[in-house]
Amino acid sequence: MALTPCTGQALLDAQLDLWHSNFAYVKSMALKAALDLRIADAIQHHGGAATLLQVATNVTVPQAKIPCLRRLMRVLTATGVFGAQAQHPSARGGEPVYTLTPTSRLLVGSGSLDPITAMIIHPALVSSFFELGAWLQRELPDPCIFKLRNGQTMWELADRDATFDALINNGMASDSRFVMDIVIKEHGEIFEGISTLIDVAGGLGGAAQAISKAFPHVKSSVLDLDHVVAMAPKDTCVQYIAGDMFESVPPADTVFLKWVLHDWGDEKCVKILKNCREAIPARDAGGKVIILDMVVGAGPPDLKNREMQVVFDLYMVVVNGIERDEQEWKKIIFEAGFSDYKIKPVLGARSVIEVYP
Ligand SMILES: C[S@@+](CC[C@H](N)C(=O)[O-])C[C@H]1O[C@@H](n2cnc3c(N)ncnc32)[C@H](O)[C@@H]1O
Repeated sequence: MALTPCTGQALLDAQLDLWHSNFAYVKSMALKAALDLRIADAIQHHGGAATLLQVATNVTVPQAKIPCLRRLMRVLTATGVFGAQAQHPSARGGEPVYTLTPTSRLLVGSGSLDPITAMIIHPALVSSFFELGAWLQRELPDPCIFKLRNGQTMWELADRDATFDALINNGMASDSRFVMDIVIKEHGEIFEGISTLIDVAGGLGGAAQAISKAFPHVKSSVLDLDHVVAMAPKDTCVQYIAGDMFESVPPADTVFLKWVLHDWGDEKCVKILKNCREAIPARDAGGKVIILDMVVGAGPPDLKNREMQVVFDLYMVVVNGIERDEQEWKKIIFEAGFSDYKIKPVLGARSVIEVYP
């Protein structure tokens, strides 16, 4: 028999938990407002600490809305996006000074994660989740919730709508710059001995550019769809190749796949991986595939990481993708004809998987 809380306090605690789940989206939308208004930049503009009035002036919030801006800042402070330092009670009526935290420092400057954050909380993606329950009751995986909501897949929309395409490509490039900096600085041995590398479905080439900058002897190229390659930067030594990874992958010592396989179901991943295998030499001739993705259950065992892995996995339903655990990775890797793999859980919730022919 299910245990039901019976004291008033237990009931209120249960309701509080329910409210936390109910209102989780308000936190996302508060973050979205902070991005829309560029509040982190405003605080940075004032040397990393700004009063409410300074923020309001910088982000052009009118006098009448300042009390509402204060409410927004209170939520963003409670959720750790910004900090609030008390001033002397006599100063400006005791208003706090808002500061950047390690989280909001990620939203300012040239390496900002603003583009990927804006992508994740874009209305086309967020609203797709209203379809989740109905999608689960359908027999077939297609159409995915994104298509149910928006009438086309995310890749179709990106192909037709230049603004959405830029949102995705810039978002991905910002994540690549961020995470590749860590991979290269702290785990550069992954790229040792490589002379040619192809970043399959590499988008605007954020990862390939970082690799070729850190290892100039590595000849790097990017394979992606026509409309993405058309937007690729010209002032780089990375070569961009328009093509379809489901058809073939150009030859290289190493294939790099970042945040690609989690977009696709097993059958499609096996197809991609088989094409990658054909593109690389044997293991003793230096052939390998480097995958940067999540391995659910790998990495730090704390609740924050574990919760993010399962939440990210559910998020990937948006494109009929999946975050795989080790057994699920093993299945597609061996089905594609590879002989061995090594998981390196060195990137927080994400891992590097080296796969050998
Ligand atoms: C989630 S993004 C990852 C981009 C990049 N790897 C990164 O992490 O920054 C997926 C990429 O797959 C590309 N893509 C989708 N279908 C493809 C195909 N059939 N062949 C090549 N690239 C494809 C998209 O254009 C997009 O750039």
